[in-house]
Amino acid sequence: MSSFDADWLAMREPVDHASRNSELAAKVRDHFAGRSSLTVVDLGCGTGSNLRALAPSLPSLQHWHLIDGDSGLLTQARDRLAGWADSASPAAEGVRLHKDGRRIDVSFECADLNIRDLEFSDIGGELVTAAALFDLVSRDWLQRLVAGLARRGVPLYSVLNYDGAARWQPEAPLDMCVVAAFNRHQRTDKGFGPALGPTASEALAKLLSQHGYSTCRGDSPWQLATREAGLIAALADGFARAAAEIEPEARDAFAQWAVARSKAAAATIGHQDVFATA
Ligand SMILES: C[S@@+](CC[C@H](N)C(=O)[O-])C[C@H]1O[C@@H](n2cnc3c(N)ncnc32)[C@H](O)[C@@H]1O
Repeated sequence: MSSFDADWLAMREPVDHASRNSELAAKVRDHFAGRSSLTVVDLGCGTGSNLRALAPSLPSLQHWHLIDGDSGLLTQARDRLAGWADSASPAAEGVRLHKDGRRIDVSFECADLNIRDLEFSDIGGELVTAAALFDLVSRDWLQRLVAGLARRGVPLYSVLNYDGAARWQPEAPLDMCVVAAFNRHQRTDKGFGPALGPTASEALAKLLSQHGYSTCRGDSPWQLATREAGLIAALADGFARAAAEIEPEARDAFAQWAVARSKAAAATIGHQDVFATA
């Protein structure tokens, strides 16, 4: 399974939250507006960023079931959520939070999503969501997930799937080569079989439509400027390292590119969000 660094997730969280497609976010809020309570399942939750972004738009009583394969990230999720909430107290299955007039019960599950049942009827999930996950998964896995959700007509909200479009300002000659190699790396196995990478949102929308879902899709690009200099530098390094795994003969050129790109004045990294209802 891929491992994700909590510091990296913390660095990207403010940008992730600001980048979510606002039209889709409003549709999600409106869809559940008439309800007093909601059970949400968050796949690949990391340290709980998706909950912190989405809970303020959902009904006043919420149960979130957070699933991740990394027990260390789940421990950090519990701590970070307790710090984010107005108050937090231990509960039978996890933690009870109060935040801005909402009561949010959170349970945690350490599981490999490759082998876990994907219907979530054991949780009573009424919304399944995932942030920055589906570009890691394979088409077969996504097919299994969508088929599982369709059996109970559960809505799906997927945000921040990388879409393959990355640009830096000012442009440099090697940008396109690095992005092309990086995008090929995105299609390699990230623990679920051959990854969908930049094709994730399109594949997801197609599968959902085939299963009778009404689906909306919208852009959620990271638009980075000098105030996100740390993220720009980390991205340059990450792009160059992944690209060099695909084209080892260009390793030195890509490393030099990363040094220059780490000081770029601005960068745009394309993502897409998808919201689907049965
Ligand atoms: C890019 S991170 C996103 C984390 C979080 N959703 C966020 O937006 O900050 C992907 C997450 O998926 C989890 N993950 C990856 N493969 C997994 C698997 N096979 N089973 C369960 N979790 C997995 C990782 O541990 C990581 O927390």
